[in-house]
Amino acid sequence: MNQAPLLVLHVLATVIWVGGMFFAHLVLRPVAMAQLDAPARLTLWSGVFKRFFPWVWVAVILLPLTGFLLLFGAFGSMADAPPDVHVMSGLGLVMVAIFIGLWSIPYRRFRAAVAAQHWKAAAHQLTLIRRLVATNLTLGLTTVVVATGGSYFF
Ligand code: HEM
Repeated sequence: MNQAPLLVLHVLATVIWVGGMFFAHLVLRPVAMAQLDAPARLTLWSGVFKRFFPWVWVAVILLPLTGFLLLFGAFGSMADAPPDVHVMSGLGLVMVAIFIGLWSIPYRRFRAAVAAQHWKAAAHQLTLIRRLVATNLTLGLTTVVVATGGSYFF
């Protein structure tokens, strides 16, 4: 199988997911905190997640799929893959698990709280979501460093 389309999809999924988290966490969040009161801020995040999370689902499916096809296509087996690819696979799977957990528990509760206008409960769930997104952003940026520079370090 031609590896080029797989690598293109893999990197596009990375850019969309990690870039989206970077923008949300480091750009939109401080501006929303400074300028909006709680109901407006929580409603804004509800709309942001509704539009961003479907793209994250695409990335969450594409990254492991294209990643393992690339891995087996290029190296034949996990045992023959270099250390940087092992680290990328491990961190990538942890990121996927964190997103699925985030989507299943705090995001579900956050949506319900916003719909019921229970702002205090919604704010509590948003704090959990923010911590999980910050963790995934850190893992995502680390994975990009390992993926691109890894063969020079290891
Ligand atoms: C989920 C499991 C994953 C697997 C199995 C996997 C596997 C791979 C493989 C085999 C390559 C080609 C490496 C080479 O030919 O030397 C690659 C490239 C790449 N991966 Fe992953 N990956 C995964 C997740 C991720 C994640 C989560 C990110 C970023 C957040 C990421 C970012 C990249 C980047 C940026 C490249 C291009 C590296 C380059 O061409 O210099 N991967 N991946």
